[in-house]
Order: sequence, then structure tokens, then C-alpha cells
Amino acid sequence: MTLDIIVPAAGVGTRFSRCEPKQFIDLVGKPLLVHTLCIFEQIEHIKEIIVVIKQEYRSLIYDYIKKYNLRNNIKVVIGGKSRQESVYKGLSASSADRILVHDAVRPLVSVKAIRRVIKALEKRRAVTMGLPVRETVKVVDAEYLRVVKTLDRKQMWLAQTPQGFWREELLKAHFIAQKQGFFATDDVALIEAMGVDVDLIEGEARNIKITSPEDLSVVRAWLEMQTVTSGSC
Ligand code: C5P
Repeated sequence: MTLDIIVPAAGVGTRFSRCEPKQFIDLVGKPLLVHTLCIFEQIEHIKEIIVVIKQEYRSLIYDYIKKYNLRNNIKVVIGGKSRQESVYKGLSASSADRILVHDAVRPLVSVKAIRRVIKALEKRRAVTMGLPVRETVKVVDAEYLRVVKTLDRKQMWLAQTPQGFWREELLKAHFIAQKQGFFATDDVALIEAMGVDVDLIEGEARNIKITSPEDLSVVRAWLEMQTVTSGSC
């Protein structure tokens, strides 16, 4: 079994009030993206880490590889307009038979969790990490900010990454989605749309996706707790 990791990092962060995309923000001595890459450096048997970024940041990744002494199995691929397009471009650059997709903006995923997803891929074609929802979930008419209905919380889980796939299966799902003009905010949704079962592994509360500036302080606190800052991974 060969394994590649795709790290979509080509977003511009429209929900974030900073000029620089959040994946490049320095946190506890390293850019966010580097924190994420350093975690995957600890996983054995990875053929390539495929980092998907916007054209203008290409050279920055090569600077990071040198400065933070990252392994040279990092491949840089130019992303697309949506996350889905960026992942597809990463996927097209891979020849491994198993794929993990992990958002660049989730720098707190644990090595243990990643290993659980890889292990599940021995038997399962598609796997996602997820967390049970704690709050009560409402469907809302966004235009009038009016509650439409309340969902059954027991059935609600938040999807996290990493998500793992057999590459052929994910490629097929992306082709079908493109043909049908179907867009989703994660890759597992494309597999679901094909009617293929997706297994869920219970994830970790700390595996936060940095979306707003407030998330940064939480992630900073976690990183300060776990890191004695060093210049490299
Ligand atoms: O914005 P969103 O929540 O979809 O971002 C999730 C991840 O996908 C981020 O790491 C972001 O950089 C990446 N992304 C991408 N290409 C895009 C949009 C988002 O690689 N066009």
C-alpha cells in the first residue's frame, strides 16, 4: 500500500480579517501550515505530501522546506477556485493507492488520530473523522434569520479531516461531481453522492479548523502547551 497526503492550502480566507491567508500566519514560532506539515512528517510510509497552494505562494513553500528543515517528499501543486478543485488538482498529481486529505488550517490533529484513519483504510474505501454535535442544531432561513426547524442532535456529527480514501474511488467521485456540477465542502460528500459507504472515526475536540481570528487564540494556547519552540520540526 502506498500513501500520499493532500494538504489543501490554496484558500484566501474570506472569513478572516487579515491580508495574509491564515495558513501562513506565524504562531508560536512557525507558520500554521508548517505546524500542520510537521505532524505528517511523523507518519511513516508516506510517499508524498502534496501541498496545494496559490501560484503566488509557491516559492514560500520552498523557503519553508529549507528554513524548517522539512523532508524533501513535499510536492507543491497549484490550487483552484474552490477547495474541491484544489483537492482534485492534488489528486491528479498523486500516484499512491491510498490518499489522506487534511486541511492546512487544522494544525492540532494528533499523530494517533491520523494513524487510526490510515489503519481503517486497510479495509474501508472512505473514512472521515467526526465529532458528535454538542449544541442543539437549527435550520435557519438565513435571509430573515428565522428558525425553520430543529434537527435531532443525536444524528448530527461534525466532519473533520483527515479524511482517507482509496485513490481510485476518490478520483471517480471527483469525476462524477464535475460532470454533474456538484460542489461540496468536503471530499467524503462526493463519495456519499456515489452511494458508497463512508466510515466515521470519532475525532478530537482539539482538531479545530481555524476559520475566525478567535480560533487563533485557542490554537495558540494548545501549541504553547505542547511545543518547546524549535526552529524546525
Ligand atoms: O475555506 P475552506 O473552509 O473550504 O478551507 C478549507 C481548506 O481548503 C483550507 O486549508 C484552505 O486553504 C483550502 N482551500 C484550497 N483551495 C481553495 C479554497 C480553500 O485549498 N480554493
